[in-house]
Amino acid sequence: MASQEQETIAQKIAQFPHWYHQIEVAPGVVTPGINATPLVLELLDLPEDCTGMRALDIGARDGFFSFELEKRGANVLALDYVEPTQTGFAIAKELLQSQVEYKVANVYDLNPEDYGTFDIVLFLGVLYHLRNPLLALDKIWSVCSGQLWIESQVIDNAFLDYQSQQLHPLSVVSPNLTTTPIMQFYPQNTLNNDFTNWWAPNMACLTAMLEDANFVVERSLLHGSRGIAHCRVNNDKQINHYRNIENSIVGDH
Ligand SMILES: C[S@@+](CC[C@H](N)C(=O)[O-])C[C@H]1O[C@@H](n2cnc3c(N)ncnc32)[C@H](O)[C@@H]1O
Repeated sequence: MASQEQETIAQKIAQFPHWYHQIEVAPGVVTPGINATPLVLELLDLPEDCTGMRALDIGARDGFFSFELEKRGANVLALDYVEPTQTGFAIAKELLQSQVEYKVANVYDLNPEDYGTFDIVLFLGVLYHLRNPLLALDKIWSVCSGQLWIESQVIDNAFLDYQSQQLHPLSVVSPNLTTTPIMQFYPQNTLNNDFTNWWAPNMACLTAMLEDANFVVERSLLHGSRGIAHCRVNNDKQINHYRNIENSIVGDH
């Protein structure tokens, strides 16, 4: 690469001060993200060949995972409730000459009428930012025709003790709690001084919520304070029935 071209790329990257993802935007040139994105990618174990697949990346932020799926052949929609110029997405897209489409929307807006369905859905680093995590999983189910990868803060190794303000393994509180589906609620900014953190489940609860949203969990793993699950969409009629009841008016039975 000519040094002038390198200089232009470096200037573009420097236009955005808060990179989250580490994206290789030119050979050997990686954005200075604070997140260990390549490690997360490895843990996710996404399909190598996504040719012809339609993919949705919810909470895309700078777009690392959207661009990765595009590289693997998918037709990708990146969705986030912030504008692409508020993150590094717009700059990375330009530098990569990517065709990934970007939609400013909320996960709660998803529906098959407006969005169609997707073979691959990524829901990474968003669940614990939601006040209504099950509602989000229901919305995601409605647009997923294939597989879902979810990544989240989980409490198995990171239960917040209110007295000490320290994070402890859940098993220290009680060994039974790791297999009991529970979530911890974070009022105000109690988790990491961040007002947008609300709920973190343990792995048992993450699995149970995914199953109750009509997914089958094929693989799950715990990595420090984070959990990953790879699921395929399910269509259990009883789950759909009771989910629909909860979402409607129940008259005389
Ligand atoms: C922690 S970042 C995760 C970025 C990326 N998915 C990853 O795992 O590296 C969370 C992203 O989700 C977005 N987000 C949070 N709540 C959302 C919501 N309700 N609907 C859409 N996007 C949301 C934020 O704007 C942010 O870009």
